[in-house]
Amino acid sequence: MRIAIIGQGYVGLTIAVGAASAGHKVVGFDVNNSLVAALNSGKSHIEGISDSELAGFISNGSYQASTNANVLDGCEVIVMAVPTPLDEKRNPDLSFVHAAADLIAKNVKSPSLIVNESTSYPGTLRKEIAARINGIDHLYASSPERVDPGNAEWGTKNTPRLIGGLSPEAVVKAKEFYGSFCDTIIEVSSPEVAEAAKIFENTFRQVNIALVNEFAQIADALGISGREVLDAAATKPYGFMEFNPGPGVGGHCIPVDPSYLAHVANEVGVPATFIKRANEVNLAMPAYVVKRVVAGNGGSIKGKKVVVVGVSYKSNVADTRETPAAEVIDLLREKGATVAWHDESVGTWRDETSSPISGADIAVLVTKHDSLDLAAVNACGYVFDCTGSIAGADGI
Ligand SMILES: NC(=O)c1ccc[n+]([C@@H]2O[C@H](COP(=O)([O-])OP(=O)(O)OC[C@H]3O[C@@H](n4cnc5c(N)ncnc54)[C@H](O)[C@@H]3O)[C@@H](O)[C@H]2O)c1
Repeated sequence: MRIAIIGQGYVGLTIAVGAASAGHKVVGFDVNNSLVAALNSGKSHIEGISDSELAGFISNGSYQASTNANVLDGCEVIVMAVPTPLDEKRNPDLSFVHAAADLIAKNVKSPSLIVNESTSYPGTLRKEIAARINGIDHLYASSPERVDPGNAEWGTKNTPRLIGGLSPEAVVKAKEFYGSFCDTIIEVSSPEVAEAAKIFENTFRQVNIALVNEFAQIADALGISGREVLDAAATKPYGFMEFNPGPGVGGHCIPVDPSYLAHVANEVGVPATFIKRANEVNLAMPAYVVKRVVAGNGGSIKGKKVVVVGVSYKSNVADTRETPAAEVIDLLREKGATVAWHDESVGTWRDETSSPISGADIAVLVTKHDSLDLAAVNACGYVFDCTGSIAGADGI
């Protein structure tokens, strides 16, 4: 099939490569000129896709990137994988979804299957995409993306894929497409069910992470190790699932998607109280970390040299979106410390570059990559570990 993917970020490029590997002819459309130029020169910007894999698909003609919206016309399937962030009031910002839908409306004149993989609240495909495109007799389906960047065990092929269509024909076509590179397809009765399942999955994580983050604070105040308690609880073979505390939640999904559910819940008159509380707890974690670091240093870190180790939002990825490390650094600086950060996979961030670990009075381990030199962290005078990696260190 000839496939177009709108948006060549983490999700779009992953799907593009999945589809290319199944023998489809894929064009990755993006509005970012420099990204498209880099992709066409065989340079991948995400961890799970190597430059050589990308270059292979380019040279055998199964992948190309483009900024020209004309490429969308004549494709059997058009997949939307564009950002769905929050606005400054933490409400859904569907401007990228609307822009992508408008591009389709303007440029696509022959009927196609239009699939939305961007995460959004139930009703988005029907009301914000199909209704907006209108005119041509397209098929529409929702297949929310579940990719977990950096996860070596679960990828596009073996993670079960949900599909909900606006018509039976849309489901048949979407199954044909995704079935060509995904092992397990699960059909649900409507796009709204698929959309809601995705945001409920991430809400489940957000709420449980908040629960263990609050528990970590209770355990510390009680003078016991929260992590040891959680490990002990996890020995129960049923009815318990282990989540780990940390410095807050980051990335494009967990801090964002639950607020999409809270938004529609509010519209239908049901207050999403768990989501609101979980946001409060998770967003307060950087302040809790800094409070503990100050307490662990006799009540003041003024003039101390601090290195924050690991600034991406999770292990083994370079993605710094919504990373709690940003607030940890800002709050440490507010307390009068001289703060540098170390993360070789990130390199440059917020107009600063990664610094060496050695020479710091205090190390705050926020994210631990496999490549990290833990001995260098341990060599600092005081270590606060947010990751549970250093036995005996102060931390959560
Ligand atoms: N990153 C993840 O782990 C993940 C996992 C599951 C779902 N999602 C969801 O998938 C969607 C995309 O996320 P992502 O992480 O791939 O985002 P991203 O920021 O990595 O990539 C989005 C891309 O879309 C492009 N873009 C923006 N507007 C466009 C337009 N009008 N036309 C064409 N391209 C446009 C941007 O230039 C960018 O390259 C979001 O809804 C996100 O919540 C992300």
